[in-house]
Formats: sequence, C-alpha cells, structure tokens
Amino acid sequence: MVSDVIHNLFDLTGRAALCTGAASGIGRRMAWALSQAGADVFLADRDAGGLAEAEAEIRETGRRAAFMAVDLTDRSRLQELVKAATSAFGPPRILTNAAGINLRQPIDQITDESWDLTLEINLTAPFFLSRSCVPGMKAAGGGHIINVASLQSFRAFANSAPYGASKGGIAQLTRAMAEAWSADGIIVNAIAPGFFPTKLTQPVYGNPEILAHNARMTAIGRNGELEDLDGITVFLAGPGSDYITGQVIPVDGGFSAK
Ligand code: NAI
Repeated sequence: MVSDVIHNLFDLTGRAALCTGAASGIGRRMAWALSQAGADVFLADRDAGGLAEAEAEIRETGRRAAFMAVDLTDRSRLQELVKAATSAFGPPRILTNAAGINLRQPIDQITDESWDLTLEINLTAPFFLSRSCVPGMKAAGGGHIINVASLQSFRAFANSAPYGASKGGIAQLTRAMAEAWSADGIIVNAIAPGFFPTKLTQPVYGNPEILAHNARMTAIGRNGELEDLDGITVFLAGPGSDYITGQVIPVDGGFSAK
C-alpha cells in the first residue's frame, strides 16, 4: 500500500496541463500519461485529426481533455492558445513542449527556410509558449515545464544540423528558464529521449540495420517504447520533482551512458 505522502508526490488530480505535439508520438503519450495521473489536459498541435484521436483516447479513460489545432510557428497565436487552454481547464500548471520536426537534410541542402522552420518549432515556440504560461503559473503558486531535448542535445547525427542545433539550444534554454523562474516555483526540466517509434523516426525505423545498431548502443539492449516515458513525465509534472530544476534527463536506455 502506497502511503499518502508518496502518493501525493505523483498525483496530478485537477491540475491543468497544456501539451504540444499532442497529436502524435511522444507528445501524445506525455499528454496521456498526465491525464492518467489526474491532470486535465489541453492538447495542441497542427494536426487536427490526430488531436481528435488523442482527445478521444483520453476521454475513453474517463479523464478530461480538449484541443486546439494551431501552427506553433505562428508566434501571434501562442497567447491565444494559452487563453483557450485557460478557458477549458484554468491556467496551465503543467506545460509539455513536445512539438518538433527533423527534416533530415544533408548539410549542403539546408535552406534559409528549412533552417528557420526547424529552429522556430523546436526552440523558439517552447520559449515563447513557456513565457506566455508563466503569469498563470505564478498566480497559481507554481508550475512544471517539461521540454523535449534529444540525444542530439549532446552529440551529432548525420543530416541533422538544424535539428541538433535546436536540441542543443533547448537544453540550454531549459537551464535559462529554470534560472529565471524557479524562485517563483516554476520548475523547468527536459527529457532527452533515445530512439522511440514515432512519425519523426520513421526513416530510422524503416531501416532494420540502423534500428538494431541503435538498440545495441543502449545499455538495456533495446530502443524505447512510448510507455517508457510515462514515469518521467508524471514525475517531472508534479510535486515529486519540486527540488529538481534546469536538468536534462536522458530517457534512452543508457545510450548516453555508454
Ligand atoms: P511526431 O512527428 O510523432 O510528433 C511531433 C508532433 O509535432 C506532430 O504531431 C506534429 O504535427 C507536431 N508539429 C510539428 N510541427 C508543428 C507546428 N509547426 N505546429 C504545431 N505542431 C507541430 O514526432 P515525435 O518523435 O513524437 O517528436 C516529439 C518530440 O520528441 C520532438 O521534439 C522530437 O524532436 C523529440 N524527440 C523524438 C525522438 C524519437 O525517437 N522519436 C528522440 C528524441 C527527441
């Protein structure tokens, strides 16, 4: 039997969460995990069909969810998103910044547009969206922000210069946001996933040799499954992590430890 003291560290009942990238993959799983810990989740993504599916999946479990389709590269809409989330469930106390892209271009084929787009969605949107959530979090007595970093926050992979730059940037942005806001009770951390099966990694998952190589690179001996993210997401979104801030936590089966 889990005691109340411990149970309460992981209980998100009634906390409002805003989750980006929630139509697919990692962001969708993070939103689902938060909902299962009791949070009311507001889902944001540019993919309206995926959002509707994700919302239904959560509602089927008896939890509360709502969504807004939005292109997060449009900075003018970020305030509107926070307002919509606030109207649905109150000011977000939890924010997960998971929307992201990797265009996988060889370095000499990167264009102004592909560079800007990657940085805008992977790095700039998390900053401006987080900052838009800060007043509500402060008024509520604190909050938890979870960014999504990558193995590429620490090392280079082929055909990923803008992606790697954005992920190195998000690691540092996590520290900067923690430095600025933690004294107000706003806890900011990032997870750095290894290889997980999502739309973004389809090119990797379509290549059994690379996939097996990536699995061998981990200490555990396999690539990630989306449910491997549940524990860390709930932990970093609630009181259990209240004295951990500005950290980038690998969730990679030990890939980065070897
Ligand atoms: P995914 O492609 O399944 O999900 C990304 C979501 O972001 C999609 O639903 C997409 O519609 C949304 N999105 C992209 N651009 C958007 C925009 N301009 N406005 C609104 N929504 C937008 O990919 P995945 O893998 O779930 O990616 C989630 C995060 O995890 C990304 O930040 C990615 O860099 C990161 N990541 C993923 C890893 C993996 O192995 N899958 C490993 C390390 C990090």
